[in-house]
Amino acid sequence: MSTAIAHPNIALIKYWGKKDEELILPVTSSLSVSLEAFETRTTVEVQVNAQSDTASINGKELEGNELQKVTKLLDVVRSSAGRSEKAAVVSVNTVPTAAGLASSASGFAALAIAAADAYGLKLSPRELSRLARKGSGSASRSLFGGFVLWNKGDDDESSYAEPIEWKGEALEMIIAVVSAERKHISSRTAMQKTAATSPYYQAWIDDNNSLVAKALKAVEHGDFTTLGELTELSTMRMHAVMLAASPPIRYLAPVSLRLFDAVTEIRANGQQVYATADAGPNVKMICKAEDTLQIIEKLQQQFPEIKFLRSAVGGPPKTI
Ligand code: PMV
Repeated sequence: MSTAIAHPNIALIKYWGKKDEELILPVTSSLSVSLEAFETRTTVEVQVNAQSDTASINGKELEGNELQKVTKLLDVVRSSAGRSEKAAVVSVNTVPTAAGLASSASGFAALAIAAADAYGLKLSPRELSRLARKGSGSASRSLFGGFVLWNKGDDDESSYAEPIEWKGEALEMIIAVVSAERKHISSRTAMQKTAATSPYYQAWIDDNNSLVAKALKAVEHGDFTTLGELTELSTMRMHAVMLAASPPIRYLAPVSLRLFDAVTEIRANGQQVYATADAGPNVKMICKAEDTLQIIEKLQQQFPEIKFLRSAVGGPPKTI
């Protein structure tokens, strides 16, 4: 039996689409930051006499497609370990599941670590990152703390994440929880539809790859202004390319856009804060740790109905 804890991550430069659906090889590299405030804690227990795998998240048994994704990752582990026993997976998640807060990232990262350990596989963090990638692309990045680059790669071996050192001042994230409901269209399906029907998709790929290169330099130089500006560009361009799909895909709600406006206004008044959003209406902001409280106060006044959460930059996953 093995238990692992992993943190979710927020992409500053986005991943949106695969060149290989089976191996989950992305069309672009991406860059993220880990969130300390949330975690997924997953226990994998090998079951000698069980006929099939079971899995639960926060006490709810998984079925159908969701259970299949877990079984698929366990199959990869079993085949590498030369084992065939089924497993019981129990996962406890403090990330609002499937609301664009990347619960799949911490979920599949914790599952990869706990499953490899439970079946006796000794894998390096890089190998675990490749394994987690096969559950959910963004999970490859949750194998590390801090700032993380997921190299798109060309094949299973070369598509992995690695930590990159942030040389700037301490940063924090603010999460505006607009909705904790499940998203109406999964990121997996939305990516496929964008690739198949958005006329701007190739332009998005070319541009996002160049944003990754610029963002890497900004991280290496501790240049928060440039990193923040690139984050907003990558966010808006990802939402733009999916808005151009047929039928259009829209995750941002009216209130999400009002939050982006509020962030622009706070910036105009001198505090550096930049916003991003993923496959859901929640807006996440990145700012200097010394400014977090004041920024939350300003936002709370303007949006009394919204819950604002605060998170430091998270550390690497742990096994217990
Ligand atoms: O790995 P998935 O299928 O949860 O996709 C994540 C996609 C985004 O969150 C929108 C962007 C990203 O890079 O995390």
